[in-house]
Amino acid sequence: MAKVYRRPKLYAKQTAAFFEPKDAQGNPARYSWIEGSTKSGKTVSCMAWLVEQAMLKGKPGREFWWVAPVSGTAKIAFGRIKRGLKGKKIINHTDMTITIGNGAVLRFKSAEKPDNLYGEDVWAAVMDEASRMREEAFYAVRSTLTATRGPIRIIGNVKGRKNWFFIGSRKAEAGEPNHSYHKITAADAVAAGVFPQEELDDARAALPEAVFNELYFCIPTDDGGNPFGLKHIRANIAPMSKKPTVAFGGDLAKSIDWTVLHGLDEDGCTSEHHRFQLSWKATIMRVRLICGYITSFLDSTGVGDPIVEELQDGNGENSNFKGYKFTQASKQMLMEGLAVAIQQNEIQYPEGVIVNELESFEYEYTRTGVRYTAPEGMHDDCVMALALAVHAKKNRAAQPQGLIL
Ligand SMILES: Nc1ncnc2c1ncn2[C@@H]1O[C@H](COP(=O)(O)OP(=O)(O)OP(=O)(O)O)[C@@H](O)[C@H]1O
Ligand SMILES: [Mg+2]
Repeated sequence: MAKVYRRPKLYAKQTAAFFEPKDAQGNPARYSWIEGSTKSGKTVSCMAWLVEQAMLKGKPGREFWWVAPVSGTAKIAFGRIKRGLKGKKIINHTDMTITIGNGAVLRFKSAEKPDNLYGEDVWAAVMDEASRMREEAFYAVRSTLTATRGPIRIIGNVKGRKNWFFIGSRKAEAGEPNHSYHKITAADAVAAGVFPQEELDDARAALPEAVFNELYFCIPTDDGGNPFGLKHIRANIAPMSKKPTVAFGGDLAKSIDWTVLHGLDEDGCTSEHHRFQLSWKATIMRVRLICGYITSFLDSTGVGDPIVEELQDGNGENSNFKGYKFTQASKQMLMEGLAVAIQQNEIQYPEGVIVNELESFEYEYTRTGVRYTAPEGMHDDCVMALALAVHAKKNRAAQPQGLIL
């Protein structure tokens, strides 16, 4: 076994949380709930644990599952374990499985469609990034462990209080038998030498305090790290306006996405919202028909560029159609403008897809700064169109309006 696999050197808190979890009575716990800081080594520990489970309990065909929020993240874990495992193994890229020497099957799955998580008997499971998954995924995975009495590790960042992962962690912390609770903060990771102090200081300086506390110290905020503020988002919900539209923002479909056009009236209230999937030619016609001569800012990044040019019909920037090119910096500026508009109640929008997208937005911290972004696998086209509409409304006075009949 030593040649095939060697457990990475884990620090004491990692070992306690992932390999030796105990419940409040001091008995070995089948469930371990781990709230962990970003980059504290959650994924690495769970990988080692799942591989060891498969080695200890594996028999031909026995399933050991890695569940991630979307298939992209499941694939990353698949790749990391694949590379880390030496020795005899059969890799199936289509199914994302690794069958090891004793016949155990490590399977990497996405939680996007919880229905696809039912049906098998599973001998051990990991739910990585649990706070980004729906509760149904947990029910499904737990059901697969019933017949085998298999153990599970549920790990993630803290993301607000209103989610099953937070609630499950609180129950475990309160002493639920057979459940173990652990918190691993950035301070633990720094003390163990796996996370640099400078990086932590840098993140503290760059992030809003509440977001920093959530990501690095597992202290929940009511907003769950939402850059617009959940209270503010909800304060602006209003029915569609019947007044005429004075400005449009548009997100043009990139391959499989939707084209979204968002119209605001003179008070900033949503007066129109269109969402469609058409060929480029039909899209151009539809956009012309909807926007007419009203100032319209459209995302002209990449494939959007020739479309905007065609809409401008040779009039360039004198046209009511304006291109907005997304770079990291310009997108950030646009999002900040939207945040201000939301927080100062300058706009209103109806309940539904726009609110859902706004609520799912999060901060992303990278070495080069902080960004507002939709979580992987979620759409952001309504938010982009809304942000461009806010921008269009602000910038329309300075623009010649052409013919308004
Ligand atoms: N005990 C350890 N010893 C050495 N390096 C470690 C240890 N634990 C984690 N690391 C390293 O720290 C980095 C982050 O680990 P990992 O991806 O597991 O963290 P995470 O908490 O899952 O992060 P994320 O927030 O990105 O999900 C990796 O490069 C990993 O190799
Ligand atoms: Mg991770």
